[in-house]
Amino acid sequence: MAEFRLPPNSKVRKGNHFEATTDSHNIQRFIVYRYDPSTEENPRMDTYEVDMEDCGPMVLDVLIKIKNEIDPTLTFRRSCREGICGSCAMNIDGTNTLACTAPAAEINRDVKIYPLPHMSIVKDLVPDLTNFYAQYASIKPWLQTKSEAPVGQERLQSKEDQEKIDDPAACILCACCSTSCPSYWWNSDSYLGPAALLAAYRWLVDSRDEAREERLGNLQDPFSLYRCHTIMNCTNNCPKNLNPAQAIAETKKMLAER
Ligand code: SF4
Ligand code: SF4
Ligand code: FES
Repeated sequence: MAEFRLPPNSKVRKGNHFEATTDSHNIQRFIVYRYDPSTEENPRMDTYEVDMEDCGPMVLDVLIKIKNEIDPTLTFRRSCREGICGSCAMNIDGTNTLACTAPAAEINRDVKIYPLPHMSIVKDLVPDLTNFYAQYASIKPWLQTKSEAPVGQERLQSKEDQEKIDDPAACILCACCSTSCPSYWWNSDSYLGPAALLAAYRWLVDSRDEAREERLGNLQDPFSLYRCHTIMNCTNNCPKNLNPAQAIAETKKMLAER
């Protein structure tokens, strides 16, 4: 019988335990993935006991408190702190989401925190998004026109047409969807993934864009779009309640009707 084992250097070991330094009755434990690929050390899970009486409510507040007061070596990304920039996406208690909008109290037990799954790790909770951004750039996420713009005017669109791009244009490129997609896990070199495909759809339905045929043609190969098997993890994991799976289905329909 075939036997599969992880290579020794990828086994996650038990890490350091940072006990609470107060006698508060509201201590919550956060068990956090730690990995520095520039060293020979295996990944480990460090445990931090945090006094929630003296901490902001969101998981990002906890991580900032850990970094400031307990362990300055912990590395994570964040910027806006209000669900707008997409920087703090990570896997919290088994779900890809934004740390700054995830209330720690609602998790209600020991909280396991990992980086977004199936990505190379830069350090700790920071995944390497180089390929993800390159895929986004590959769909040419800007308005493409061939006609002359009306002199002295902007390119206008109706309220109804504008509403078609409201949702897809609200994507913050956090990568929660793509990194929850099994097709993307196995084919991220050739399958664009739900985030880039939602962005492609955003321009396909923009009434001002004049590159629809080229945009559809670029998705026609067997991998870029058609590796989506409608598993729906992407839509279920979007912290902005967007629906990339539906956008992908609509794009397939446009190609079928071409
Ligand atoms: S619907 Fe498509 S893109 Fe979304 S998780 Fe499933 S396979 Fe991935
Ligand atoms: S569709 Fe949602 S989960 Fe995916 S990148 Fe955009 S905001 Fe993030
Ligand atoms: S810090 Fe910007 S989305 Fe969380």
